[in-house]
Amino acid sequence: MSSELVIQGSLFTPVSPTEFTFLRQALVCIDSTGTIARIVRATDTDYSDVQQTAQRLDHLWQLPHNQYILPGFIDLHVHAPQWPQAGLALDRPLDQWLNTYTFPLEAKFADTTYATKVYHHLVHELLRNGTTTAMYFGTLHLDANLALARQCAQQGQRGFIGQLAMDNPDQTPATYRQTSSQEALQTTERFIVQLQCLAKTTGAALTPVITPRFVPSCTVETLRGLGGLAHRNDLPIQSHCSESNWEEQYAELTYHQRDAAVLDQFQLLTPRSVMAHGTQLNADDLTLFADRQTTVAHCPISNCYFGNAVFPVQQALNHQVNVGLGSDLSGGFTPSLYRNLQQAVMSSQQLQDGVDAQVAPAQRGRGTGRISATTAFYLATKGGAKGLNLQTGQLRAGFAADLQIVTDRLGTLMPNDAHSVFERLMYQTTPAEIATVFVRGRQVIG
Ligand code: GUN
Ligand code: FE
Repeated sequence: MSSELVIQGSLFTPVSPTEFTFLRQALVCIDSTGTIARIVRATDTDYSDVQQTAQRLDHLWQLPHNQYILPGFIDLHVHAPQWPQAGLALDRPLDQWLNTYTFPLEAKFADTTYATKVYHHLVHELLRNGTTTAMYFGTLHLDANLALARQCAQQGQRGFIGQLAMDNPDQTPATYRQTSSQEALQTTERFIVQLQCLAKTTGAALTPVITPRFVPSCTVETLRGLGGLAHRNDLPIQSHCSESNWEEQYAELTYHQRDAAVLDQFQLLTPRSVMAHGTQLNADDLTLFADRQTTVAHCPISNCYFGNAVFPVQQALNHQVNVGLGSDLSGGFTPSLYRNLQQAVMSSQQLQDGVDAQVAPAQRGRGTGRISATTAFYLATKGGAKGLNLQTGQLRAGFAADLQIVTDRLGTLMPNDAHSVFERLMYQTTPAEIATVFVRGRQVIG
């Protein structure tokens, strides 16, 4: 067997929400199509042969002992145009934040030059944080959304890109909405064709996504039309579901149904759907998600500001709901999925314990629900890949060579057993520790 590149180093890869595999000094063999052809373990009989052949062909890359290979992370929920306002006005309630800050900023993407500048910056920022696949909300502007796709193609990121649909005159400003359902649907159809054409001509990993902003922003005709479009073209869908008290109440007041049931009524909950947040989902909603095989994009930092609650990750997993992780830029302030996986663990601890010391400990929290860093790692990798139906998110033969090489800065000061190293990597990694990033076998950072 001859590989284009053989990386020799220790690796971590997810197995389940409660288990990862650690391999010390494995050989990760990457073929010319950017796929992991094989992972050779130190105990395999042909380990030395493979290593020596790669060395002879000058294909061997030996990592220093304080560096580790992880799968690239998958961010299931990014509002690409909101990157310039990351961290701003997060003290406002969701509806005010949208109307006063976010819609005016997104409206500026009518200027494709501005869009290109922002998206160039954002895609680089995500890659240097180890995010090899991102699912993006774009804006109303088809040209700006194609500019985002071009940045993904040029910089080598796997991109799922959504032409935004929002046309409900009651809930959106006249300066930032589609003027009819027909316009919303036709623009989406044109975008699908043009993005698929761009993917073909560039060879880039680009996929169009059906993107109703959320139930309040859309008319019934648009929700119905987009559900049909996704069904006919077998396309992924993204939206928000049950993010906040306000969003849930809107569905109940307007449709006399749960937010999840409204989306389902319009065929928007499918095995290819990724719904952001879900903090307000009840047990019936979770059962519906499980039945539809729809994924939740858990956005724990954003939820601290806008969620009015903590999304119960463990309960969702117990309901057999697939869960991945999202930054929700800029409801979340950081492009780092490391920061988000840390927050997922922290928020789950607070859900379990409760937060109000004036309530007796036995009543204060749920008493269960805490997740580990292993679960959070699973969400950022295998859970995300499952939601997008991708062969990535794991270091495994036949999967895409989407990976990050990360330095353990504290390894000289503490024991280097697999569990200690793993927890340090999850808690201490910033872009400074991410030495190299590969997407589909191509080095994109480092
Ligand atoms: N709901 C509808 N639009 C948005 C958005 O841009 N961000 C968040 N967090 N929630 C939304
Ligand atoms: Fe969002």
